[in-house]
Amino acid sequence: MSFTYDQTQKLFTIETKNSSYLMQVDKYRILHHIYYGRKIKSDGYENLIFFYDRSCAGNPDEVYPDRTISLNTIPQEFTTFGVGDFRVHSIEVTNPDGSFGADFRYAGYKSFEGAAELPGLPHAYDNGGEAETLIITLKDKVTPLTVDLVFVIYAEKDMITRHVVYRNEGKGTLKLGRAFSLCLDLPYGKWDLLHFHGKHAKERQPERRPLSHAIETLESGRGTSSHQENPFFILCDHAANEDYGEAYGFMLIYSGGFKAEIEVDQFDSTRVVMGIQDDLFSWNLEEGGEFHTPEVILSYSKDGLTRLSHNYHDFIHENVIRGRYKTERKPVLINNWEGTYFDFDDQKIVEIAEEAAKLGVEMMVLDDGWFGERNSDNAGLGDWFVNEKKLKGGLKPMIDRIKALGLKFGIWIEPEMVNEDSDLYRKHPDWAFAMPGRKPTRCRNQLVLDMGREDVRAYLYECLSNMLRENPIDYIKWDMNRSLSDLYSRVLPADRQGETAHRYVLGLYDLMDKLTSEFPDVLFEGCSGGGGRFDAGIMYYSPQIWLSDDTDAIQRLQIQYGSSFGYPVSTMGAHVSASPNHQTGRHCPIHTRAVVAMSGTFGYELDPRKLSENDKAMIRSQIETFKKYYDVIQRGDYYRLTEFGKTYYEAWQYAAKDASEALLNLVVTNPEPNQTPLNIRLKGLDPDAIYELEYDAREYLKSLDDLEINEFSVDSGKKEAAPKRYSGSMLMYGGFTFGWIAGDYPALQMHFVKVG
Ligand code: GLA
Repeated sequence: MSFTYDQTQKLFTIETKNSSYLMQVDKYRILHHIYYGRKIKSDGYENLIFFYDRSCAGNPDEVYPDRTISLNTIPQEFTTFGVGDFRVHSIEVTNPDGSFGADFRYAGYKSFEGAAELPGLPHAYDNGGEAETLIITLKDKVTPLTVDLVFVIYAEKDMITRHVVYRNEGKGTLKLGRAFSLCLDLPYGKWDLLHFHGKHAKERQPERRPLSHAIETLESGRGTSSHQENPFFILCDHAANEDYGEAYGFMLIYSGGFKAEIEVDQFDSTRVVMGIQDDLFSWNLEEGGEFHTPEVILSYSKDGLTRLSHNYHDFIHENVIRGRYKTERKPVLINNWEGTYFDFDDQKIVEIAEEAAKLGVEMMVLDDGWFGERNSDNAGLGDWFVNEKKLKGGLKPMIDRIKALGLKFGIWIEPEMVNEDSDLYRKHPDWAFAMPGRKPTRCRNQLVLDMGREDVRAYLYECLSNMLRENPIDYIKWDMNRSLSDLYSRVLPADRQGETAHRYVLGLYDLMDKLTSEFPDVLFEGCSGGGGRFDAGIMYYSPQIWLSDDTDAIQRLQIQYGSSFGYPVSTMGAHVSASPNHQTGRHCPIHTRAVVAMSGTFGYELDPRKLSENDKAMIRSQIETFKKYYDVIQRGDYYRLTEFGKTYYEAWQYAAKDASEALLNLVVTNPEPNQTPLNIRLKGLDPDAIYELEYDAREYLKSLDDLEINEFSVDSGKKEAAPKRYSGSMLMYGGFTFGWIAGDYPALQMHFVKVG
């Protein structure tokens, strides 16, 4: 049992391996939030609640004449609305008579083995015997709105998911103006906020600062989870670092606009609320109707940020990602986008595939430009039919030639969009969002299809499922290249227009669900102008997402670092691209580009016909290296060894869960003369074991070929002098010291194997 209910004290205790979560129903049936944090025994929990007549705090009617009970000061499990709690709230509801207000009281609970279902939305799932669901029901006396607070407890994994089901149990329609998934009160403690902001081609940049008394809002109002702010953040104590301190994670499984508000109130209590972004949201909840919110994945770590990240990485691997590629190794791919952009035909693609096959690449991915009149990004979206001027005879003959080389084949689509210059738009201009009387905003010269419409989805399903049925396609890159604006659906009445953005997301999930269920062997990769929809919602359908349109390895270090706080490397689409890099113009050795891309799904995005023989040889060995290290990279524990940007190098590491091997990665971003010693302490090893270093510096030295550097100055001759065997405790507590490492962005990978 991961939770208990003590009838006498009316106390709910949720227990995970390392955390406790307590709630209590008081004599007025107000559901108090008592505690969430490090595991405790609940005896004496009463001391955590502070009742006091705090000046001018409002008191609910039934507590009269007691002035110590105020909804504005009690830590609560869910918020009220309009009745005297002035902190940030999770619900806004309007009654049929126009009054608005919600004041919930405990009405009962139920529980069952397994995870609650969440119709129409991606959600975490139970692999069998792992999860237990607790549903606490709250009701309002006046507004006929019932709220089910759904907790799914994955005790062994230290994860709790939360969502809410709102039910209209009265007469008439209730209008929800805000219907969040979570309220969490942390009455004590002072916290730092660590969140992940960004922009196109620079996603998930970590930013950390202490919370103040100004309300923090993290949100995307773009209809997608966005480049600008990720629906994942952390609260941690001021002293917390990778290995020490308390940290709470909050991750919304949702790919549309979202909002989190964090308030430190007048009494220094912290409240977090999170859910679907509400500025452009409302929902008509009809009699008997239910509204299911997306899930928030909560986790708590008493041992710092790394532990918290591992909790999320393992959970996403095991309880969010599904399908064949949850466990199977994904093919090393080559994508033609940066190699050709729109300038290709079938012959060129086959030539790229031929060259790539010789290098050991396993899949050819044809990116944008193969359909309709798509010769630039101004036309063609919506016309999911082969452009036979480019691909003579259609897709099939080209795919057959590629398959004959022993490669798998993948293809790019952007189904949610339409160009005005397309047959689809000429036929169905009303399928795109546009407000009455206004010309819609273009972005990349494209408009957004109303995915909430069944006819739109039926068209897309027909085109895409036929394509998958008629062609041996192994992989789909599902792109989405603009934010949502001009939200107006022609199939919704005036008073339901506020539902448009969420219905779009539900429609997207519906289509993804149909296609991924019908074609379970196809590997889907999400994408949105790079990493503009990099979230756990998309991961439920596609186990990997293109991380960023910035393929510059040195910039990628930071994007991968920021993304790693919440997401495992197996989800991060990462490719080696050409040098100089197309986004930054930077030159970077191909070895370094590969070391960085290996901390992701790994593939190439260049024209292999233009490579030097040296680069081709490097690629052959890179692919072998990646396959060799695949398990430890994709399934091991990931450690951030440097705080990004704080020194002249970046280091990160993987350790097998049984500590049998480790892979240390290092990129020197700004080499120093007269170098400060570069000493790195490894993590996740067995301190009592002996490890042998399998270290091959040849790749690095080859990448220095153009530099006139004496190769023995690299690594200070350590190759001869240093022992090859190290104790785990030496590597973890003493560290491994590197010699002088020179050149432009040199990178090293060092593989330690347990030998005794
Ligand atoms: C987006 C993607 C790129 C590429 C282009 C094609 O920008 O992120 O990888 O597919 O679209 O138009």
